[in-house]
Amino acid sequence: MIKVMHLILIATLITSTYADKYGRLLLYGNCITCHHETKSISAPSLQIIQQRYHEAFEDKKEFVNYMVDWVYKPSHEGSIMHDMIEKYELMPELGYDKDTLEKIATYLYELQ
Ligand code: HEC
Repeated sequence: MIKVMHLILIATLITSTYADKYGRLLLYGNCITCHHETKSISAPSLQIIQQRYHEAFEDKKEFVNYMVDWVYKPSHEGSIMHDMIEKYELMPELGYDKDTLEKIATYLYELQ
């Protein structure tokens, strides 16, 4: 019995680390061209986005779902950062599927 529990634990650890790495990879492959980690150059930095989202959404699910829906179809109405739209113009639609965006948003939620 103990062995089974161990296996489950190990499997969970492996898959969750894998999901983290994958989210990071997707973020760095697809978003970093415009969103620098700490500097806002052509778009708000990841740090600012993460901070604003944490201020707006306490719950992880709300944070992730809202970001997925918005990035899937960026709009003025849904934006929680109107000052950034004024400064940089509305983010273009990128055409990623929602699964991919969910991994990225989850990674951003957890990013320290
Ligand atoms: C071509 C440049 C570009 C790329 C690539 C890009 N963004 Fe953006 N993004 C912007 C700009 C400019 C803004 C600021 C204006 C705005 O909010 O629409 C922004 C704003 C945002 C916001 C704030 C939304 C709000 O409430 O206004 C989120 C969240 C975001 N981006 C997530 C992402 C994610 C996740 C990716 C990668 C999948 C990504 N962006 C890729 C340019 C980009």
